[in-house]
Amino acid sequence: MATTREARSPRWLRLCRADEIGEAQSRGFDPDDEGQDSLFVVRWQGQLHGWRNACPHVGGAPMAWRRDAYLNAERTRIVCHAHGAEFMPDTGLCVQGPCRGERLINIELVVDADGELFAKK
Ligand code: FES
Repeated sequence: MATTREARSPRWLRLCRADEIGEAQSRGFDPDDEGQDSLFVVRWQGQLHGWRNACPHVGGAPMAWRRDAYLNAERTRIVCHAHGAEFMPDTGLCVQGPCRGERLINIELVVDADGELFAKK
């Protein structure tokens, strides 16, 4: 876990306040202002998990069907809406669909002492 000072270095991108993402919610981020979210964060069983918005099935395709919609209706799995692959929110492992056994790319996160959420560049 990074310290507050480390989290404010250029290697870390500030995303939002950590408490803005509730249990079983997801939120996408476009830190490089590319016009499309390059990463997303899920809170699952109390823990925040960061993932690159890149499905392993087809060349890193974006996954959400609308803004911040990365979870299934039951909010138990991350879903790629292109072809329905389902991933565990905590490990990124694909457990259902065309890329079963592959994983999402993890993004390291840290919450600083002020409750701000950062992602490692
Ligand atoms: S591109 Fe994600 S399931 Fe096909």
